[in-house]
Amino acid sequence: MKRLLLVAAAVGSLLALTALSQKMQSSPDIQKEPFGKAPDGEQVFLYTLKSPSGMTVKITNYGGTVTQILVPDRNKKFGDVVLGFNSLDGYTSKDNTAYFGALIGRYANRIAGGRFTLDGKTYQIPKNDHGVNSLHGGDVGFNKRIWQATPSGTAKNPALDLHYTSPDGEEGFPGTMQVYVRYSLGNDNDLRIDYRATTDKITIVNLTNHSYFNLEGAGSATVLNHKLTLMADKFTPINANLIPTGAIAGVAGTPFDFRKPTVVGAHINEKNQQLEYGKGYDHNFVLNASSGLALAAKVEEPKSGRVMEVLTTQPGIQFYSGNFLDGKNVGIGGPYRYRSALCLETQHFPDSPNHPNFPSTVLKPGQEFRSTTVYRFSTE
Ligand code: GAL
Repeated sequence: MKRLLLVAAAVGSLLALTALSQKMQSSPDIQKEPFGKAPDGEQVFLYTLKSPSGMTVKITNYGGTVTQILVPDRNKKFGDVVLGFNSLDGYTSKDNTAYFGALIGRYANRIAGGRFTLDGKTYQIPKNDHGVNSLHGGDVGFNKRIWQATPSGTAKNPALDLHYTSPDGEEGFPGTMQVYVRYSLGNDNDLRIDYRATTDKITIVNLTNHSYFNLEGAGSATVLNHKLTLMADKFTPINANLIPTGAIAGVAGTPFDFRKPTVVGAHINEKNQQLEYGKGYDHNFVLNASSGLALAAKVEEPKSGRVMEVLTTQPGIQFYSGNFLDGKNVGIGGPYRYRSALCLETQHFPDSPNHPNFPSTVLKPGQEFRSTTVYRFSTE
């Protein structure tokens, strides 16, 4: 009898131990630390996601902002490849007009005159882009909102779930919008971003992440040596206010042809009206893939050997070569200078509400907007 009891106890503790180790394996170890107080006094936090391979991504629930991405170079040395700040002040400073690492919404990119019409009703949103157009959701876009954050995922694939309720009429947009964004780390040194949104009135939506990449390391002088490939035969030319003309033009024979790996600096200073309007590259490329999660861009940095691939379900990607960076913002990597980083913003096309020939950005009650983007890092 005694023996039987002993065996039962041993089996019991073994089971408990197995359950505990399974739990430890499956629950993510996400560090949460205070990051500063938002302008309205609310405490915001910084969350650290680390995968078993060592890839580390830091995200604050202020603006759903990615502050750091640490990935290895070809000598296995980890470095930070995105421009960011180590406290909230860098983000809330009036000198920060760059949207470093933030989630962008309700409408990423520009809307001409800040005006659009839905079901015969015209809406005016803030003209926060030099008083001419609306940019990245208006005066107080999703990048300046505090998101509700919940750690999730597993120890192998840690994740952070973010939720924001954008009220009806916020920044002039109709409908209460529920926005859910999940950042998660995959098995391949990859950061995946899943976006979902619903509305209770007809509205428009365009969501992206505005990370600035320098694969040599944040703070390195320039990205002009980065080799870029874009899976795009076409792009949307712009006018002098960076608003698409509505044309969809071929890239062949232009400085916009990145179909084969091309260094960013190869043609950036050529005399070309589109480059003059953008002050460099600041254009939406029409992705060739028409469905599913497909490769959109590849960036290769020769010194570090780091490679980044961008996969997305979105129809477009804004390639912005950091032309407005001017060294005023001093972050973890030092001053962030002119063209010292590039953005690859997966998105619907700019000003889509005013261009019926562009894929629609209208969202109606009962529909769910969904998109996924993956930033995958490796070396060569
Ligand atoms: C980019 C946009 C640029 C500039 C930048 C923020 O997404 O394409 O024109 O506004 O954001 O400084």
